[in-house]
Amino acid sequence: MATRQLLRFLNNGSQQALLAKQLGAARFYSAGSYEFIKVEVVGEQKNVGLITLNRPKALNALCNGLMLEVNNVIRDFESDKKVGAIVITGSEKAFAAGADIKEMQNNTYAQCIRSNFLNHWNGVAQCRKPVIAAVNGFALGGGCELAMMCDIIYAGETAKFGQPEILLGTIPGAGGTQRLTRYVGKSKAMEMTLTGNQVNAVEAEKMGLVSKVFPVGSLVDEAIKLAEKIGKNSPLIVALCKEAVNTAYETTLAEGLHFEKRTFHATFATKDRLEGMTAFVEKRAANFTNE
Ligand code: CAA
Repeated sequence: MATRQLLRFLNNGSQQALLAKQLGAARFYSAGSYEFIKVEVVGEQKNVGLITLNRPKALNALCNGLMLEVNNVIRDFESDKKVGAIVITGSEKAFAAGADIKEMQNNTYAQCIRSNFLNHWNGVAQCRKPVIAAVNGFALGGGCELAMMCDIIYAGETAKFGQPEILLGTIPGAGGTQRLTRYVGKSKAMEMTLTGNQVNAVEAEKMGLVSKVFPVGSLVDEAIKLAEKIGKNSPLIVALCKEAVNTAYETTLAEGLHFEKRTFHATFATKDRLEGMTAFVEKRAANFTNE
C-alpha cells in the first residue's frame, strides 16, 4: 500500500506522524496527519514551513500530544532542504493559552521528576533553521514560552503576553523565568512572573519581546514574508548566523566575540560566501547553493 494511503487509514495524528517518520516519509506534510496542528509549506517559492496550532476548544493549550507533533514537524522541516525558515502561529483568539492545566492538574512531584516533565518541549529552541512566532491573541504561560523559543516574534494588535503560572501556585517551567528575563530585563520579568499580569502587543514591542506589531488579519502573511526573505539567503550561512546570535545568550562577551570572529572566518570556507561577494562586485543577484 502506498505510504499516503496507509497514513490515511490511521485515525490518530501522532500515530500517523510516527509512521510517516518510520517509513521515511519525512516530507509528507498532510493536514490530515496531525491531531493538534496544521502543517503546510507556503510562500511563492514554497520554502516556508507553516505550523498552525489547532486545538481551538482549549485555546491551543499545549498538551503533550501537541508538543510532540510540533517537535516532529520541526525535525522534518529541518531536514527538508527546500524549507528555509519556519513560522509557528495559532488562532486569532489564542497563539496558546499555556501548558495544558487539565493534563497536569494531578501530576505528582515524583511523576515530574521521573518523566523530566516538559523537557521534551525544547525542539523549537534547538531548531537550526530560523523560527518565527506569529502571535495573535493569548500567549500565556507555555504559550509565551513557546513564542520565546522562536527567533523572532511578530504580534497581531490583539496579542497578550503573560506568565500567569504564579496564579496557579507554580512557576514557569519552559523558560519563562530565564528567556523572559533575557528579553525584557529583571524588573519587567519579575513584575510579569510575580503578578501574572499580561502585557499587550504594543507594550511587548516596547519591551523588546516583540519585533513588530501588525493588524490581526495580516500578521501571518507578514511573518511568511519575513520567512521568505530570510529563505533567500544561504541556508548554511543563515544557520551559522543564528548560532552566533544565540551564543550571545550563553557566553561572556569576550567568548561570544571570539566565537563570532571564528564563525565569520569559517564563512570564507564556503562557496556561498564567495558567490555573495562576487555577485555584489558583478552587480547581480547572488545564486546561493548551500555549499
Ligand atoms: N489548559 C487547559 N485548558 C485551557 C487552558 C490551559 N492552559 N486555557 C484555556 N483552556 C480551556 C478552558 O478550560 C476552556 O475549556 P472548557 O470550555 O472545556 O472549560 C477553554 O479553554 C476556553 O477557555 P476559557 O473559557 O477560560 O476562555 P476565556 O476567553 O474566558 O479566557 C484565558 C481565556 C484568559 C486564556 C483563560 O482560559 C486562562 O486563563 N487560561 C489559562 C492560562 C494559564 O494559566 N496558562 C498557564 C498554564 S501553566 C504553564 O503554562 C506552565 C508552563 O510554564 C509550561
